[in-house]
Amino acid sequence: MPINVWDYLREYDELREEILAAVDRVFRSGRLVLGQEGIRFEREMAAYLGVAGSVGVNSGTDAIYIALASLGVKAGDEVITVPNTAVPTVSAIRTLGARPVFVDVREDDFLMDVAQVEAAITPRTRAIVPVHLYGQCVDLDPLMAIAERHGLKVMEDCAQSQGALYKNHQSGSVGHASAFSFYPTKVLGAYGDGGMVLSNDEAAIKLARSLRFYGMETQYYSERHGYNSRLDEVQAAILSLKLPRIEGWIERRREIAARYNRGLAGSGLVLPRENAHSRHSYYVYVVEHPTDRDGVLERLAKRDINCNVSYRWPIHTMRGSADLGYSEGQFPVAERKAQRIFSLPMYPHLKEEEVDTVIEVLRDVV
Ligand SMILES: Cc1ncc(COP(=O)(O)O)c(C=O)c1O
Repeated sequence: MPINVWDYLREYDELREEILAAVDRVFRSGRLVLGQEGIRFEREMAAYLGVAGSVGVNSGTDAIYIALASLGVKAGDEVITVPNTAVPTVSAIRTLGARPVFVDVREDDFLMDVAQVEAAITPRTRAIVPVHLYGQCVDLDPLMAIAERHGLKVMEDCAQSQGALYKNHQSGSVGHASAFSFYPTKVLGAYGDGGMVLSNDEAAIKLARSLRFYGMETQYYSERHGYNSRLDEVQAAILSLKLPRIEGWIERRREIAARYNRGLAGSGLVLPRENAHSRHSYYVYVVEHPTDRDGVLERLAKRDINCNVSYRWPIHTMRGSADLGYSEGQFPVAERKAQRIFSLPMYPHLKEEEVDTVIEVLRDVV
């Protein structure tokens, strides 16, 4: 049996009865979109994060541009982020006609190098999007201080960080707003697409609620240009039954990470580092091979262990970003790491013996 980087089928086996009952409840409710399930899940997520408001949307990508628009980002503004993120972080910024401006990442945790942010600020800068990549938080206190000094908004991209903590605060509760994805692979994943905007700023939440629904506040009357982006009732009901399990699942992910840490120490791989200010949720467990990443991946695949690379190309080097005018060599840490990183199998239902097999085979092929 191959060991894959991610799989939801064992989770489905465990939750099947509950999921089918939830789907049936939605189908029998007579309300498939923007009903009670969505309202309840919005409340539950806001309570989990400890923030005032939340708006369910169709995807993490939508959550990013709706959150940014709700904080006042508009066409022509600049938004500072990192080049080693998922493409959607950047495409969401560009959807608004805003310009992504990159800063490099840190060598040790592969997260936004906050020390570089101030130099990237121009009179057009409006917001900063820290990406809590892999399940670990960017150092938010100094970032919030910079934002405060320059009158900027911080919108946390939490697509990969559900349940991660920054100094005992939930990721997504520190910035001016945050965007979550519930794409199936996520720590809290739907059985389809989903996303959410969260904020303590009531005006931003009110605006996000209008923007996800054609800019309406009253039925059939649009106040502003808006979108169609709603978290559907089926996904909200499934997410709602999964949310109370998230802490246990993160604990399990952390156990698996600790097992990898022990088993792979001294193997020649660079292992992930947990920052003192963070609780890593280990959305993914990313290691580095300094010289032969692709060779290692090939040898692992031959022995039925399928890993992943997120991400192989920093965004500023992609053809799709050519018009931004960046060139290779501008973000050396992101570029170097992109050639070295890969993610090991990681999901809560992974078995001990599978983790041990990954360790054994990996030590062998490395
Ligand atoms: C860092 C990051 N931002 C944004 C997204 C976009 O989320 P979605 O796929 O739900 O649109 C993802 C996930 O795919 C992501 O990993």
